[in-house]
Amino acid sequence: MSLWDARQTAMLKAMGLRVWAPSPPAPLDAEIDVATMQAPEPAPQPAPRRAAPVSVAEVLPQVAPQPAPREDADGRSATIAAMDWPALRESVAACRACGLCESRKNTVFGVGNEQAHWMIVGEAPGENEDLQGEPFVGQAGKLLDNMLLALGLSRGEGPPEQQVYIANTLKCRPPRNRNPEPDELARCEPYLDRQIALVKPRVILAMGRFAVQSLLRSSEPIGRLRGRVHQYQGVPLVVTYHPAYLLRNLPDKARAWEDLCLAREAMASR
Ligand code: URA
Repeated sequence: MSLWDARQTAMLKAMGLRVWAPSPPAPLDAEIDVATMQAPEPAPQPAPRRAAPVSVAEVLPQVAPQPAPREDADGRSATIAAMDWPALRESVAACRACGLCESRKNTVFGVGNEQAHWMIVGEAPGENEDLQGEPFVGQAGKLLDNMLLALGLSRGEGPPEQQVYIANTLKCRPPRNRNPEPDELARCEPYLDRQIALVKPRVILAMGRFAVQSLLRSSEPIGRLRGRVHQYQGVPLVVTYHPAYLLRNLPDKARAWEDLCLAREAMASR
């Protein structure tokens, strides 16, 4: 059975989008508008998983090597790597490891199901996130939620296979939303590493270049890294554009949708 009905297939093909064939975990009743990533209604309950896993060999032409561990001269990373969720939350809330603690209103730890099968990694909190203490609550967050909804995923309640955990590379807002500095990324990285280790996601979606820099140690452009499945600590990782970028570059939404399909495919093959 195809994931898409005849109308959707025609629409996706007309847009030049790859049509993913296997049965979905969350069938999409409603047409997805790839321009807005809007799915009119939340996706219904998932169909049973396929008995046989889907091979992603054809979409895995290259796999990035494992990133080298960073130096841990003061043992801080090792301490964080041993924390449970409550200790990790407390540590982030009290963190003064870099200058961003001076200007932040709130730390932004992460949100979602701690057993989620999907993990989304963004860049850094913006103004709204700094005020509310939650990632992706502004315009970029709305787009992200719509993209997730199109795949039958959410950051709310539900079974782990339909849930995401969302975290950023930085837990504090850089002033005036400037780019993260390398030392800020390095100081914050152990928190993200530990979040991923605790969630144990089945797939990671790295959104934007700073997520990619942290998780893959790569400074290659997103356009060169997307379209194949990488690995982070043995977890399949798919690179895609950051939602804030997509808001300004509408044509790349179609590519982002392909990346989501690839992530789902990588997940299904595990
Ligand atoms: N952009 C991000 O990368 N993360 C957020 O939480 C908000 C905007």
